Amino acid sequence: MVGIKIDGKVIAQTVKDRVKKAVIELKSQGITPCLATVLIGNDSASATYVKNKHKACEEVGIITKDHKLDSTITQIQLNEIIENLNKDGSVHGILVQLPLPEQLDEFTTTSRISPLKDVDGLTPHNVGLLSMKKAVLVACTPSGIMEMFDHHKINLEGKNIVLINRSNLVGKPLYHLLLEKNATVLTCHSKTKNLTELCKNADIIITAVGDRNKFTLTSEMIKEGAVIIDVAISRFQEKLVGDSNYEEIIQKASFATPVPGGVGPMTVAMLLKNTITAASLSTQIGR
Ligand code: GUN
Repeated sequence: MVGIKIDGKVIAQTVKDRVKKAVIELKSQGITPCLATVLIGNDSASATYVKNKHKACEEVGIITKDHKLDSTITQIQLNEIIENLNKDGSVHGILVQLPLPEQLDEFTTTSRISPLKDVDGLTPHNVGLLSMKKAVLVACTPSGIMEMFDHHKINLEGKNIVLINRSNLVGKPLYHLLLEKNATVLTCHSKTKNLTELCKNADIIITAVGDRNKFTLTSEMIKEGAVIIDVAISRFQEKLVGDSNYEEIIQKASFATPVPGGVGPMTVAMLLKNTITAASLSTQIGR
């Protein structure tokens, strides 16, 4: 049995259509949603990601403020820029593109962002709310994956889910979101023993390693009818690839995401959604 493709481009478009309507509604209330991005250094992949985020904002009527900073910027200078964006009433969402250059600390940086403008869901405040089932702004890739499950009506209750990632942006927020849906979640990482056995037992595998020299999820490692969400994107043998080969995995899976065109477009769509949420929050302050 060949499985069903979870098409990130199609599902992302449904999210964008909803965002477009919300933008019109906010504008009618005199609010023009605005996302400020901060890109530090010359990493070409990060520059492409930020460019795509700007383009998507434009498509739905969200305005953007673009801060491109030199790779040698100090933590103190960066803190000041974030502080100014926190205070700027015309900015609703703040996104500092990761990873950061070596001299900058990720926690120091992201935790400085106002929780109300934290469209990445990375501040301690928003991470805490997520762990207590009270999240308002959630990291974009995890919420995009949940949107994919919703779209295909994939029931998560009681399912054995193997997560192969434990990062703040992907694995940890996903753990909470999946647990809220009553799934049994196993968070795996580079030190996990018997990963193949754990995968073989999983109803759903969400993989985000991003290095084919270290890890490939093959069809021998999954059970018949499993759902495979491939979050990774990296260059391998001159091609953009995920952790699995979609054409191979879909022969055995019930659902799977391609790379590219799977999770990637969802991350961008959910950023737009979070920006709208942040703009709505700005109208509620003081009420
Ligand atoms: N780098 C890779 N993915 C992301 C993301 O979702 N947000 C930010 N800020 N940086 C990233």
